[in-house]
Amino acid sequence: MAKPRVFVSREIFPEFIDLIATETDMELWPDELPPPRDVLLEKTQGVDGILCLLTDKIDPEFMDNAGTQLKVISQIAVGFDNIDIHEATKRGIPVGNTPEVLTQTTADATWALMLAAARRITESERAIHAGNWRTWHPLHYLGYDVYGATLGIIGMGRIGFEVAKRSVGFDMKILYYDVNRREDLEEELSMEYVDKDTLLAESDFVTLHTDLNDSTYHMMDDKAFAKMKSNAIIVNAARGPVIDPQALYRALKDSKIAGAGLDVTDPEPILMDDPLLQLENCVIVPHIASASHTTRREMSSIAATNLLNGVKGEPLITCVNPEVYS
Ligand code: GLV
Repeated sequence: MAKPRVFVSREIFPEFIDLIATETDMELWPDELPPPRDVLLEKTQGVDGILCLLTDKIDPEFMDNAGTQLKVISQIAVGFDNIDIHEATKRGIPVGNTPEVLTQTTADATWALMLAAARRITESERAIHAGNWRTWHPLHYLGYDVYGATLGIIGMGRIGFEVAKRSVGFDMKILYYDVNRREDLEEELSMEYVDKDTLLAESDFVTLHTDLNDSTYHMMDDKAFAKMKSNAIIVNAARGPVIDPQALYRALKDSKIAGAGLDVTDPEPILMDDPLLQLENCVIVPHIASASHTTRREMSSIAATNLLNGVKGEPLITCVNPEVYS
């Protein structure tokens, strides 16, 4: 019997490429950059499965073009805003993602951004490379204490909760907001559920851990930044478009808030003439929050397993739309 045809849209850990290649008729996109849209469509015509990234748009056009034999969409990421889930479900196509394994790593990275922005780590390090470490000065590079501050978490999912756990050693007060109140989690960390405006007004650090959807798109706009404290720092390790980048620029430039730490931007990659890149109080890293050796290996393993299960008609180990099985 012919092996199922699959397209893998980027290199993942080699042992999982080997595994997929043994069990399927695989085409691997070998470039560092995503396949251009026309190439993606050409390569996926008639495939039984795709292993994709958040840079690949998987929409009705993609599904029509792939054909009715498409049995699985396996994404190597926890987020899936690049995939039209409703459309996949309508067509009975299971969509896999890689939750859980990246939770701790992403929470660590959120903290790295918080500390870097608060204590001006990247700015002062850049100053050394520019030859500007001339002396120890009582008034140089003053930042903001994390210890004892108020942490406001928007989005109390798995990652938000792990970010909260890490704040205990810093003796922080924790506020959170989520569309779903999580009373079951509140007592363990003495977290207080507040509305979004209260959180913005009272927090010294605001971290974003929401999905990107119609209600979170540009959730952080001029009005939201205006509610924040002037010493506050915003951290985004969720999705770039949750923040209106122009509003963020205005808030940072006009000192409405003190700093930002961004793992994600809008667009990605950030354009080199984006004014946010000119600001010393904006720490930006290239969407690396889950990028540890261990985590990316586990993400590769789950994405490969979901792909292989899907083409065999077996349930995915992590499925975004399990209703396709009922
Ligand atoms: C990365 O952003 C992910 O969703 O896993």
